[in-house]
Amino acid sequence: MGVTVGTETRIEAGLDGARARTLALLAPVDDTNLIRQVSPLMSPLVWDLAHVGHYEELWLLRNITGAAPTNELYDDVYDAFKHPRRDRPSLPLLGPVEARVFVADVRARVLDALTTLDLDGDDPLLHDGFVYGMVVQHEHQHDETMLATIQLMNDFAHPDADGWHPTAVLSSETDGPRSVAFRESVHIDGGTFAMGTDERTWVYDNERPRHDVELPAFRIDRTPVTNRQYRAFVEDGGYDEERLWAPDGWAWRQEAAVEAPQFWRREGARDWSRRRYGRREDLPLDEPVQHVSWYEADAFARWRGARLPSEAEWEAAAAHDGEAGGPQQMLGDVWEWTATDFGGYPGFVPFPYREYSEVFFGSEYKVLRGGSWATDPTVRRATFRNWDYPIRRQIFAGVRCAADA
Ligand SMILES: [Fe+2]
Repeated sequence: MGVTVGTETRIEAGLDGARARTLALLAPVDDTNLIRQVSPLMSPLVWDLAHVGHYEELWLLRNITGAAPTNELYDDVYDAFKHPRRDRPSLPLLGPVEARVFVADVRARVLDALTTLDLDGDDPLLHDGFVYGMVVQHEHQHDETMLATIQLMNDFAHPDADGWHPTAVLSSETDGPRSVAFRESVHIDGGTFAMGTDERTWVYDNERPRHDVELPAFRIDRTPVTNRQYRAFVEDGGYDEERLWAPDGWAWRQEAAVEAPQFWRREGARDWSRRRYGRREDLPLDEPVQHVSWYEADAFARWRGARLPSEAEWEAAAAHDGEAGGPQQMLGDVWEWTATDFGGYPGFVPFPYREYSEVFFGSEYKVLRGGSWATDPTVRRATFRNWDYPIRRQIFAGVRCAADA
């Protein structure tokens, strides 16, 4: 039906790639660990799997071909808005075998239907295959969520985890006073910066529209903050100095008795280990720090005499990623907390549904940028906006500091 072969091939490759990743990730996980809830913050893995299939059936079959649902009850069980994560284990979930059958059945019907749809027409959902890209990215985002869930399992060592960490920062830096830790920053000129994008075939509604932002000149760290730098904050008593913390952050730090990033453990006077996918290892000092909350990132920045970058500063700096003398490792190592609350850009229009992002706008959520090592390249881009509560740290989030020029 006038569909270009290129679009269809691209869609099939995207769907195949996401599914291969999902199945490979879950294949070594035994049924007990697929069904259990490892933390009230996370769903059982088997919920994520069937939810991916339900979302795909909703958007790639029911909403665009009028197909009937496999089971209307799934609209309750697998709708992320109906039940908070902590309640999901008590729902009538599909078991591991049934969930795999369900997602495979949906996928087979999706590929059949693909050849019958007009991807060159005016329907904004179908045009250039937008809705397929949305579903591919959704599955990859759940793969990242499932990687966070598996990391929370203290007694399950995933066999494929060797490379599941951010890339070490190349730096001549060694232990030293905090002033040394900020020497490697770069200057970004002020001026008018075009933020966001008008692209419509792949990106999400919250990345649009492209709009001008006036930015004064600023400085930003050349690289993400490393475990070595963050350890200096811990060793300097940063967790005990109330003046470094936002008031809500200090209350959280007291109540949760937080003393270091999640998964760190003190081993003797100055040494630390971390648990990574069920194994304990020496803290890799040159790797970007991860599993810190926004409050910890904010306190760290204050300790450094710096601050978190605004979201606009982050995106402006990312335009120089990889340039000689520019910032490095902005995409694909750790999510980087910004100072900015999640909101719509001027002229924001929700598409294709309000629940993707608009219902989260407000002061409750902070924006994260850049994607992590667990973020698939199809999702990793300089305009992509992630958001979470400022107390969350099971995500692969770290920090990069900024300062006024
Ligand atoms: Fe989802």
